[in-house]
Amino acid sequence: MADIRFDGRVAIVTGAGAGIGKAHALELAKRGAKVVVNDLGGARDGSGASTAAADQVVNEIKAAGGEAVANYDSVSTMEGGQKIVDTAMDCYGQVDILINNAGILRDKSILKMTEAEWDAVLNVHLKGAFCVTQPALKVMREKQYGRIVFTSSMSGLYGNFGQANYGAAKMGLVGFMNTLKLETAKYNIKINTIAPNALSRMTEDVFPPGMAEKMRPQFNVPIALYLCAEEMMDSGMVIVMGAGWYGRTALVVSPGVCIGDTQRDIAAEEIRDNWNKITDLSSAEVAEGGNSIFKLMEPLLK
Ligand code: NAI
Repeated sequence: MADIRFDGRVAIVTGAGAGIGKAHALELAKRGAKVVVNDLGGARDGSGASTAAADQVVNEIKAAGGEAVANYDSVSTMEGGQKIVDTAMDCYGQVDILINNAGILRDKSILKMTEAEWDAVLNVHLKGAFCVTQPALKVMREKQYGRIVFTSSMSGLYGNFGQANYGAAKMGLVGFMNTLKLETAKYNIKINTIAPNALSRMTEDVFPPGMAEKMRPQFNVPIALYLCAEEMMDSGMVIVMGAGWYGRTALVVSPGVCIGDTQRDIAAEEIRDNWNKITDLSSAEVAEGGNSIFKLMEPLLK
């Protein structure tokens, strides 16, 4: 099998000044992509800004013989998103790959969380993905080619104490992807989501010793690169990973139960009496789109 290469491809990686994004950017460049290294350069909570982080990654790529350009705009405004895409267009004339990776944390238990903490996290992770993806999609649709990766998190997929804002944003990305994959399918644009795990500034106080050093950011890179490869034909996957383990996660649906005849009312007691059947996932299947749910209603609908 041929190596996975990105020669002639232009990639944008947001939040590429550190951690996982930096690792994505270095490897894309090593494999031939021209990379827009976007990073606002702020603190872990999103405050402040600096050009140093993006510049350093660009210098590293160039020192290794690759091509890259820095961009310092925030992903969280439409203006910023447009400027990130404009950087790619002005310098390299196209956008083939977009890895939405930029992220911040403002952890608080729900009763203590302020509106500002909720908004800041939603703005970077969820709105930020919209702000960069929409202008990128306009270019990709023209060229009938695109590979996009969203960066979710186990916190959103499964929950994590103190991260209601972050979890909502990260699961929101899955909903965003589910619709985009349908809207872009005919343009040869593939959109997938990763839920990484890595020791980084974001998680420096999360993983216990012994586990932390095994959570190398690099382990999240090969899957992101494969999802960005020309040969990637899947769209709408969510892949979870860490320490070299990779697996697909998905929303499943139980066979459930049909109650009534579509004419008579259904009582709360009938739900109670069928609760075990409704919630039994022992023969659940992956819900591949809304139609797979309507299929389960078929006995009632025909
Ligand atoms: P990191 O803190 O090392 O890197 C995030 C980068 O995003 C920083 O360089 C930061 O300056 C940049 N950034 C923040 N706000 C920005 C904005 N508005 N515009 C542009 N750049 C901005 O964190 P890490 O761990 O590398 O995280 C990368 C992504 O992976 C994030 O989306 C994070 O939520 C996600 N993730 C990380 C996990 C982990 O275990 N490290 C677990 C699950 C998800």
